[in-house]
Amino acid sequence: MGEKIAGLDVLGEEYFADPHAYHAAFREGAAATRVVLPRGSRAWLVTRYEEARSVLSDPRFSKHHEGFRRVVELSRPDGAEEPAFDESLARTMLNMDPPDHTRLRKLVTKAFTARRVELLRPRVREITRSLLDEAAARGDVDLVDALAFPLPITVICEMLDVPMDRRDDFRQWSNVLVGGSFEPAEIQAAGQAMAGYLLQLVEHKRANPGDDFFSELVHASDDGDRLDQGELIAMAFLLLVAGHETTVNLIANGVYHLLRHPDQLAKLRDDPSLLPGAVEEFLRYESPINQATVRYTTEDVELGDVVVPKDSLVLVSLLSGNRDDAKFPDADRFDITRPTGGHLAFGHGIHFCLGAPLARLEGEIAVGMLLERFDVTPTEDLESLPWRPGTLIRGLVELPVNLTPR
Ligand code: HEM
Repeated sequence: MGEKIAGLDVLGEEYFADPHAYHAAFREGAAATRVVLPRGSRAWLVTRYEEARSVLSDPRFSKHHEGFRRVVELSRPDGAEEPAFDESLARTMLNMDPPDHTRLRKLVTKAFTARRVELLRPRVREITRSLLDEAAARGDVDLVDALAFPLPITVICEMLDVPMDRRDDFRQWSNVLVGGSFEPAEIQAAGQAMAGYLLQLVEHKRANPGDDFFSELVHASDDGDRLDQGELIAMAFLLLVAGHETTVNLIANGVYHLLRHPDQLAKLRDDPSLLPGAVEEFLRYESPINQATVRYTTEDVELGDVVVPKDSLVLVSLLSGNRDDAKFPDADRFDITRPTGGHLAFGHGIHFCLGAPLARLEGEIAVGMLLERFDVTPTEDLESLPWRPGTLIRGLVELPVNLTPR
């Protein structure tokens, strides 16, 4: 299957088009498969549910960004340095182990609890209503562009009080950084542009503080050693990218599979109380994050039937773990009423997604209001729609549909 280099599976275009077929084969094989990533690094890919979950909660699989950088260099055949990341953007809690991770996460946890997020419901409904009004006026729309993308970014930009004027630039940089480009120069330029932009934003907030959550963070950084300037910029980067690149795929992948499975769509229309469970099934069945869960080994670690050597780059495929029959019987069947408890779409362990309550709220409101107001009909063959390139994210490039008011 696909291209190979000296026994290593190359994750390239053929993989992006249908990762599920690769994963099924990998799960049958060893507990971890050696692969070559699109940007040239070599890694171990974990595809079974049980081992995926255990890697995510085992401290021997570290996230620390400096170690990680060294391991990426080691994992490249020519020892070349990874050009992908501006160092200032790498210092996020997502790339830290305790105690730094604990300290940084604590600073933002409060803003993202289910209770705080619930307060955003009326505003999320209002944004969704106005996006759907605009879409209704057009009739034929790309649902990614009309709803799935703008909703989460508007919400996170409002939470951080970030002006929307550079939205298109931000979308482009963010897309390049999460795997939309394999060109070192382009990746580096996007990282620098993004870091420069965030620095300006921080300086603007420092001069013009408000009562928003971003101002609170700037204050925390001015207030001693809780957060330094680099960590502040990295935090803004993490939240904005997480707000841009993930929930868009929950919404679009979810609607896509409802359209592919008319019986499930009819069931949901008949009984809208099934919506929260349906959102969990969207997350399980076509998980928005595939392999953006990077770790490296701090020692040799036995994982199932293999030993992963010290200083290896290890990726966990959430997309694959969630399709493992050993955990979810008949896992390739899309069923909005099935039990989905324990799915890995938001990760597991100390890095479990901070934005999960927000993503769930946005997903429920977007899909709920869409179905309430419209008959949704695909205008192109669903089976031939393109998926985004790269191994990190699992999402459609576009979802062309016709919306007819009900
Ligand atoms: C972490 C998925 C939406 C903020 C994570 C992780 C996953 C994930 C898998 C863990 C990565 C790892 O262990 O390496 C998702 C999915 C989303 C979503 C599928 C949408 C459907 C959001 C949103 C935000 C957010 C809307 C906030 C605006 C974060 C943050 C972390 C994180 C800050 C890092 C937590 C830590 O390191 O402790 N997310 N996410 N996510 N997510 Fe999300």
